[in-house]
Amino acid sequence: MEAGGRFSKGAMVYEGKAKRLYQVEGRSDLIWQEFKDSLTAFNAQKKGNFANKGALNREISSLLFQELEKNGVHTHRVADISATEEVTKKLEMVKLELVVRNVLAGSTAKKFGIEEGTPLERPLVEFYYKDDALADPFVSDDQAIMIKAAKSLAELDELKVFALKVNATLLPVMRSAGLQLVDFKIEAGRDTTGVLHLADEISPDCCRLWDLKTGEKMDKDRFRRDLGGVEEAYREVCERLKKALLK
Ligand code: TMP
Ligand code: ASP
Repeated sequence: MEAGGRFSKGAMVYEGKAKRLYQVEGRSDLIWQEFKDSLTAFNAQKKGNFANKGALNREISSLLFQELEKNGVHTHRVADISATEEVTKKLEMVKLELVVRNVLAGSTAKKFGIEEGTPLERPLVEFYYKDDALADPFVSDDQAIMIKAAKSLAELDELKVFALKVNATLLPVMRSAGLQLVDFKIEAGRDTTGVLHLADEISPDCCRLWDLKTGEKMDKDRFRRDLGGVEEAYREVCERLKKALLK
């Protein structure tokens, strides 16, 4: 972990739905990530925001990435800069979103007409093609190779093993914070030597987290489904993770 003070922010290179990415001056191997307060759902058809959302997500993500590093998962993390900013390794991004499900909810529950909340006998890994214009469609293994999002079935297996390792690490962490990790989406990329790293973020934006005792939703579904209490839920997740991890 390098000290944040020695980096300076360069030109903006990309603005996404939840983050802005900047160059790091004099460092073509790094990226400066700034978390925004905006919140979108259904491929940005629904838009919202709340104060401190960016800061909460950065803090949650930083805590989880540190825990994953401790457990042998390489991540893009280099330095925390401010409440909403961090410096990360620049990676060659895999053009697939990796979704892991422990309990059936959301799109896959709907697709198969299975009741939301049905536990799965073993974690399910799914690939979605990272393409906003196509609304990130689900892809089978053979389709992923056909569209050249992966080179081979061996590469897809590597991605599945990676996603399952992240899941196995996060499950007890979330449990210790009184949260059930229902499902989540991660993104990955390779460094110049080809080593797979966790990238992007892990936050209530890209996980389903249910309170272990009450089953209450503590994630972006509160926004997607107009349940109210979005900010309170994100804040509660952050507080609980700090309590569980920063002992
Ligand atoms: P889904 O049930 O809508 O397919 O979502 C599965 C998980 O992936 C859920 O935790 C939300 C997350 N997710 C994202 O982070 N970004 C997305 O674009 C989608 C569709 C899902
Ligand atoms: N992340 C996607 C969006 O921002 C979809 C979602 O999370 O529902 O539109």
